[in-house]
Amino acid sequence: MTITADAPVATGPARSTTSRPDRPLAPTFPAYEHLTDPAERVLAAVVRRIAGDPSRWGHLVRQGPQRSGTRIEVTEGVEVWVIAWPTFQATELHSHGEATTAYTTVAGAITEIRPDRRGRLLPRTFVPGVVQVVRPGEVHDVRNERATPAVTIHAYSPRLSSMTFYGWSAGRLSVDRVAGPDDLGAGAW
Ligand SMILES: [Fe+2]
Repeated sequence: MTITADAPVATGPARSTTSRPDRPLAPTFPAYEHLTDPAERVLAAVVRRIAGDPSRWGHLVRQGPQRSGTRIEVTEGVEVWVIAWPTFQATELHSHGEATTAYTTVAGAITEIRPDRRGRLLPRTFVPGVVQVVRPGEVHDVRNERATPAVTIHAYSPRLSSMTFYGWSAGRLSVDRVAGPDDLGAGAW
């Protein structure tokens, strides 16, 4: 499937439930340079710093048939992962609980898909050099749509303790399942 920058796309299996998340959806793609929230800027800077130092994560990349991640570091308030994306891997639509997320691509290209207020799923592809922020309650799907593997660096603050996964039907999100701390060890992102 080819996705262009302005074409709504389908993601995940269609579901018939009609409930909606409590929080508003995010139609925008804030770039690091334009972040005004100090905490978001700090988190984005953490990602950019680690992404710029392959000695921190290069030896941890394990490209296999499935998406896989390794925790690079954990502090009291932040955890950082390096994630390997084989070709044509996707996360499903999800949000990160109470955590703010910043991430960047360090190899290949990653496509992020977000719902907008008009009931569309809008993709945007990130190559190395751009840090993206996902605020608490914002929903996205992250994919490697390309035929070459990709690698990303993700930081979560506070530490990732839950994730909510969503179905998408008739232009609406519905909560599919909530993953708690015990479910996140293998990485879901
Ligand atoms: Fe995510």
